[in-house]
Amino acid sequence: MAKDVIVACDFSSAEDCFRFLDRFSEEKPFVKIGMELYYAEGPAIVREIKRRGHKIFLDLKLHDIPNTVGKAMAVLSHLDADIVNLHAAGGSNMMKAAIEGLTRPDGSRPLLIAVTQLTSTDQNIMESELLIEKPLEDVVIAYAQNAASSGLDGVVCSPLEAGRVHDACGAGFLTVTPGVRFADGSAGDQKRVTTPRKARELGADYIVVGRPITQADDPTAAYRKCVKEFLE
Ligand code: C5P
Repeated sequence: MAKDVIVACDFSSAEDCFRFLDRFSEEKPFVKIGMELYYAEGPAIVREIKRRGHKIFLDLKLHDIPNTVGKAMAVLSHLDADIVNLHAAGGSNMMKAAIEGLTRPDGSRPLLIAVTQLTSTDQNIMESELLIEKPLEDVVIAYAQNAASSGLDGVVCSPLEAGRVHDACGAGFLTVTPGVRFADGSAGDQKRVTTPRKARELGADYIVVGRPITQADDPTAAYRKCVKEFLE
């Protein structure tokens, strides 16, 4: 897959989401559907956005026992998303069960990527709440290596970690990176942030951008600015 900007459509209803997507007359952005929209609208929202011609990253971050995740992935495989994900913290047995569940009878499947550490987590939170004392980047790399050896296609990580993930897991192992902000924008609850241009320089394959586009006064202009900085 080529590099691209994925727009996080974190809306609470299909109506709001389509009001946003209808602004794009010239391009069909790659869309991320997260928990909020999926829990509000169910699988129909995935089918409808797909029908409108968008690629979809279904960001439901599964994390449960291997049997449950495998069976849930088998259900999700029917939705024809391009990318789906889970938490690497669920372990390699869970990740292998997920691939098995996701693989359709004809052998095809969506790309499967793992969340390493949320980009809202920093070293302090990891140590004081998760009781993980290693450097955050080492944890991200170790989780990415577990994901790679379990057969996954990539990870969600901060753009700041993309280079080290590629070094450890190979250039073809996808890095999908949220935590992207324009140089003049606010970080909000994201802790490990960079600009689209910097994300490109750091080797990110996909950037996931939500509020800097969805909450912009002119969302299509913000999207185009993002694409220009990241891809050109
Ligand atoms: O609005 P913002 O650009 O912060 O949106 C980032 C999106 O990426 C959100 O939908 C968030 O759930 C998602 N995400 C993240 N960090 C991760 C995994 C996913 O921010 N590690």
